[in-house]
Amino acid sequence: MIPPVARRLKRLPPYLFVAIDALKEELLRQGRDVIDMGVGDPDLPTPGFIRRALVQALRNPAHHRYPSNRGLLSLRQAIARWYQKRFQVALDPETEILPLIGSKEGIAHLPLGFVNPGDAVLVPDPGYPPYRTGTILAGGRPVAVPLLAQNDFLPDLEALQKRGVRAKLFFLNYPNNPTAACADGSFFRRLTTFAHKTGIPVCHDAAYSEISFSGPQPSFLQSPGAKEAGIEFHSLSKTFQMTGFRIGWVAGNRQMVSALARVKSNIDSGIFEAIQAAGIRALQGSSSQRGRMAAVYRRRRDLWVGALQSAGWPARPPEATFYLWVRTPPGKKSQEVSSLLLRKAGIVATPGVGFGRYGEGYIRFSLTLPLTRLQEAARRMGRLSLWPKPSSG
Ligand SMILES: Cc1ncc(COP(=O)(O)O)c(C=O)c1O
Repeated sequence: MIPPVARRLKRLPPYLFVAIDALKEELLRQGRDVIDMGVGDPDLPTPGFIRRALVQALRNPAHHRYPSNRGLLSLRQAIARWYQKRFQVALDPETEILPLIGSKEGIAHLPLGFVNPGDAVLVPDPGYPPYRTGTILAGGRPVAVPLLAQNDFLPDLEALQKRGVRAKLFFLNYPNNPTAACADGSFFRRLTTFAHKTGIPVCHDAAYSEISFSGPQPSFLQSPGAKEAGIEFHSLSKTFQMTGFRIGWVAGNRQMVSALARVKSNIDSGIFEAIQAAGIRALQGSSSQRGRMAAVYRRRRDLWVGALQSAGWPARPPEATFYLWVRTPPGKKSQEVSSLLLRKAGIVATPGVGFGRYGEGYIRFSLTLPLTRLQEAARRMGRLSLWPKPSSG
């Protein structure tokens, strides 16, 4: 009675975490203590001042009705002020900022505004999956841009230009999930020039810009001419531990912002206003909250990098994000290593191939769990011998 699903659903890549998810469920059923370093969902609670703002806004019946599609002007103004203070970039709240129901929502819907059937979209590989799947759902063709260790996990813009690449959009993300690589201002300036020369607009995703251990990370929109060349996605999810709230935004090029607003006005009805009020409060908060959050992740990072290194893994401390992207032992594929870690040590790590074929040969650990759990994971890691241990002499 039910017709087969549409071809576009069949074109979506297979979900490569099925085996790991199933194994994790099985171990949990057996009563095993599983340490989950798979999902990038902050364990720290949303700061109290933001929660209180939500509760207060909830009491106001004016917020209980349909929100406006473009988001509260006061939220867009708060975003503009934050951008000015944080990046010294001026944005027009009327035309250059659009609040989103989490940045994933905007990322996945953007191709509907620009991609015709068969059009190419450049997606980083390895990369956050919605760049690829949003393109496919819009009928487009994702073209993988390899992020390789020898290029510090940055795209080779010259090679793309030499190839005469053509595409409707170019998704990028720094600080990067899953590799934890960072881009500096000079890369963003070259990227802007690339966009101007090729006519391929940049869609930069800065979801992790505030989780940095090496000074503030730059914004793509800081480079001269960037607003003519593209947009930047931001999220309150990781910056303020608000993943469950579902709130983010896109900023920059007004034609792109307006096209996404048109798509969204036909799909959703905006963000619950009480959540927008909590978002405004979050953006007004001091940078010391973000400093404290980064300090927590830094302690975890140092512990876990140390644990991996003493177990023989070639781990290096990342400069930003709460991820560690680590090579798999020679001759072992990422899915095999993930399932070994889970079976032998009860540790969930994400196989790199789930982020694209250039992610093969790596696994990703997420540091979104307390130090005590990491210490336990470190003990278990020490008992495994997947890599030859470094000699102590
Ligand atoms: C690179 C990247 N962009 C965007 C998101 C989505 O964030 P949001 O919660 O704002 O939808 C994530 C979430 O993991 C991410 O890793």
